[in-house]
Amino acid sequence: MALRGDRYNRGAIAFHWAIAALVLVNLFIGLFHETLLAGLRVMPLHKAIGATVLVLSIARLGWRLTHRPPALPEAVPGWERALANSLHWLFYALLLILPLTGWIFSSNPERPRPVSWFGLFDLPLLPVSSGAAGAAHEAHELLGLLMTALVVLHIAAALRHHFLLRDRVLVRMLPWADRHG
Ligand code: HEM
Repeated sequence: MALRGDRYNRGAIAFHWAIAALVLVNLFIGLFHETLLAGLRVMPLHKAIGATVLVLSIARLGWRLTHRPPALPEAVPGWERALANSLHWLFYALLLILPLTGWIFSSNPERPRPVSWFGLFDLPLLPVSSGAAGAAHEAHELLGLLMTALVVLHIAAALRHHFLLRDRVLVRMLPWADRHG
C-alpha cells in the first residue's frame, strides 16, 4: 500500500522516533557503560531497551513491507536514491541483528546472564553453544560501532536535505510539521 501524499504517515513516524530514541540511549549506554556510566548498573536497562527495539523493529519491518514510503524529491540523483535505499535496509537488518546478538551472547551456557524486561519478566535464554555466544559477543561490539557510524551518517544526510538542499525530506518525518507546508 502506498502512503498518501509526500509525507510519512503517523504509524511510520511513531515507529521511527520511538526506535530512534531507544537506539540512541542504547548506543550511549553500550559505548560508555565502562567509563562515564561505570558503577551505575546500566546493563539491565540496556538489555530491556534492546529487547524492546527488537520487538518494535519486527513490527516496523512488517509495516515497511506492506507500505511504500513517499518518493524522494525529483532532484535527488539515481545513485543517491540507491544509496539511501540500501542504507535504510541495512538499518532494518541491524535493528534486528544487533539486539539478537546481544540476546545470544547473554545466553552463553558457560556464563548465562539474565535478560529481564524492566524487572517485569525474564526473557528465556536461547539454546546456543558457548562458541556461538562468543562469536555473537564479537559481532555485537562490531555491529554496535557500525550502527553508531550509520546513525551519524543518517543524521548528517537528514540535516543536509533540510539546510543545504532545502527540500522536505526531513520535514516529512517530523511529527509536528504541518501536512502541506
Ligand atoms: C538496539 C539494540 C542494541 C544496541 C544499539 C546495542 C549496542 C551496544 C553497544 C554499542 C555496545 C558496546 C560494545 C563495545 O563494547 O564496543 C553494547 C554492549 C553490550 N550489549 Fe548491547 N545493544 C543492543 C541490544 C542489546 C541486547 C538486546 C542485549 C542483551 C539481551 C545487549 C547486551 C549487551 C551487553 C551485555 C553489552 C556489554 C558487552 C561487554 O562489555 O562485554 N545489547 N551494546
